[in-house]
Amino acid sequence: MNISVRAASHQYEVVIGKNILANAFTTYKPLFDKADKVIVLTDEHVWQSQQAYFSACATFDYNVFVMPAGESCKSFHNYEATQTFLLEQKCTRKSLIIAFGGGAVGDLAGFVAATYMRGVPFIQVPTTILAHDSAVGGKTAINHPLGKNMIGAFYQPQAVLYDTTLLNSLPEREVLSGFAEVIKHALISDEKWLNELMQIVSIKSLPEESLAQYLAEGIRVKARIVEQDETEQSVRKYLNLGHTYGHAVEAAAGYGGIAHGEAVMIGLVYCLLLSERYGNITRDFTTKFLQYAASNGYPFAAVNDYSFDELIDYLLKDKKAEYGELQFVLLKEVGEPFVQKVELAECREIDAIYRTLLAEVLI
Ligand SMILES: NC(=O)c1ccc[n+]([C@@H]2O[C@H](COP(=O)([O-])OP(=O)(O)OC[C@H]3O[C@@H](n4cnc5c(N)ncnc54)[C@H](O)[C@@H]3O)[C@@H](O)[C@H]2O)c1
Ligand SMILES: [Zn+2]
Repeated sequence: MNISVRAASHQYEVVIGKNILANAFTTYKPLFDKADKVIVLTDEHVWQSQQAYFSACATFDYNVFVMPAGESCKSFHNYEATQTFLLEQKCTRKSLIIAFGGGAVGDLAGFVAATYMRGVPFIQVPTTILAHDSAVGGKTAINHPLGKNMIGAFYQPQAVLYDTTLLNSLPEREVLSGFAEVIKHALISDEKWLNELMQIVSIKSLPEESLAQYLAEGIRVKARIVEQDETEQSVRKYLNLGHTYGHAVEAAAGYGGIAHGEAVMIGLVYCLLLSERYGNITRDFTTKFLQYAASNGYPFAAVNDYSFDELIDYLLKDKKAEYGELQFVLLKEVGEPFVQKVELAECREIDAIYRTLLAEVLI
């Protein structure tokens, strides 16, 4: 299945399906033929689990740079090490980069591609559920010790080749983490779809066909938004639902301490509580949503590891924060997001309500 992304700067396809990688590489052969070198950037877990499959699908020559796994590949140190590798390999502006991994590898590889010799083409080959989100839309970044994703660029890939076969080695925790972004896509777009997702008893054991269908739906939601607003001047902000509070918890836990999607799920519930005040979300809905997420194994207890005062610094570092006031994406209804400024004092109030609700629901 193909989903087109018509971004203002560049149009490209997301090819998604089971066992599609070999065929997709054939389809994109002209890109590989044009490249003087193909460099695969991947991480140690992905390469260990999926090297054999990747090399069986690839019909072109390539050199591989294997990076530390997960969030740690988005460091300045690894950014430099990757650029050094490209220079040592004598890559030019005609070289092609393949990002083979989850969102962390994709973000790092995209930023490397955006900046190596002022920009070389790259292809995303995502290997996580979460990457249905991160591989599409052209946001690339690395982390600064003072903040996540603080250094980056908007830089679109030439194509996204999403072979769901690659998900077969994904740890259960990562399945759950990635699915939080699918739920986010449903919350901002479609009440009927969200209700369907909330019927799932075990996200971790979802049949492969349903999973592929939900991933494609999530990509469609993301693609339509990116087409309207590539550089986040307006509607693209909606994709940040759950991320303001979520990023604060993620940063407080130290990058990698809690998975990105786990933190997003924690942030989604916070946004529902705020949406009870600013929109028409009911406490009944928030409670049901929290029960559904908790019963599926999302680690809400992590909230209690940090006081609100510990989260404040991180909340204020959010890229959407302006002059001490925080900007949240909230919901009028499911499927109707909007942006709302909220004073820090009110954020503290909602945080207290959140902790009380958690104590009630999680027993
Ligand atoms: N650019 C964007 O628009 C965007 C959107 C959402 C998230 N993100 C970023 O994405 C990152 C999170 O991405 P993620 O959740 O994919 O995490 P990840 O890339 O860190 O991968 C999670 C873990 O799973 C391993 N892994 C990946 N694929 C595997 C596979 N097929 N088999 C076995 N192990 C595998 C990785 O090595 C890692 O240990 C964060 O840095 C976040 O900021 C970016
Ligand atoms: Zn996210």
